Amino acid sequence: MVLRLSLGENSYDIIIERGCLKKAGEYLKLDRKVLIVTDDGVPAQYAQAVASFCKYPHIVTLPQGEQTKNFNSYIHLCKEMLENNFTRTDCVVAVGGGVMGDLAGFAAATFMRGIDFYNIPTTLLSQVDSSVGGKTGIDVGEVKNIVGAFKQPRRVLIDPDLLSTLPQRQISNGLAESVKMALTCDEDLFNFIEKGVNEENLEEIIIKSIIIKKNVVERDEKESSLRRVLNFGHTVGHGIETAMFPALLHGECVALGMLPMCSDEVRARLINVLCALDLPVTASFDTEKVLQAICHDKKLAGSDINVVYVQSVGTFEFRKMSADDFERQLREVL
Ligand code: GLY
Repeated sequence: MVLRLSLGENSYDIIIERGCLKKAGEYLKLDRKVLIVTDDGVPAQYAQAVASFCKYPHIVTLPQGEQTKNFNSYIHLCKEMLENNFTRTDCVVAVGGGVMGDLAGFAAATFMRGIDFYNIPTTLLSQVDSSVGGKTGIDVGEVKNIVGAFKQPRRVLIDPDLLSTLPQRQISNGLAESVKMALTCDEDLFNFIEKGVNEENLEEIIIKSIIIKKNVVERDEKESSLRRVLNFGHTVGHGIETAMFPALLHGECVALGMLPMCSDEVRARLINVLCALDLPVTASFDTEKVLQAICHDKKLAGSDINVVYVQSVGTFEFRKMSADDFERQLREVL
């Protein structure tokens, strides 16, 4: 299946096909210098498969994990390209999860003011969400994604076969983002997930999630309005992620973060779905620390917080919540 994301001259194809990694030479323009960025948690043969199609491949393997998404890794990638005389007509390929996609994409966005970027996501989370839409960036200290750029890839290759080596916890982690998209934008997808997720219907969930993401990004690429819906669960989720680091994965924090931001009726259905997917519905954390992380250590009192709220499945509202209501909701629900 090929989905076309239409953004004028930045339009691109998203290929969703079992085995497409092995056809990377057909789908990507690799007869040039290619920086392949991967991490040591990704099977090395994935990056090697891409390299086998390249005229001049340079594989960089970084340590797995969010800590790698930093300025030092970014400089490392830039130096690698500089030392190997990359020009504006060369390219970067990310082979990994969201961390590799964000980091490699940011290097591609900024090296020589922008060179071609391809994304080959290898985790479910990156296949259903982060590989599409052009958000790239790095963390600074504990603040996630605070430096970055919008850089649309030239093409995205989603190979569901790559998920066969993923631990079940990583599958659940990715499904949290699909639940987020279903709950806010697609009641049918939520009903579908509610009936049960298995190996057979996972590809369908990937496709349905990407269609939602694509429709949102086409209407609001730079997140001036509508795209904020994709942050549902993320305000609280990011706070929990920082406060609990490294105990919980991103999707697990998003799962928790959605719970205070919906009506009681929606929350009851959401809890059932999250439990069925082995995602957390409670966690013991220091609420003060979470609130501090949410506001980057500034005082929340007196300010309003922009949130995405789900009153009924498949719909969303942008709401402003007072800091007091926000804190109360957090303490009551989690
Ligand atoms: N993952 C949220 C977005 O791409 O906007």
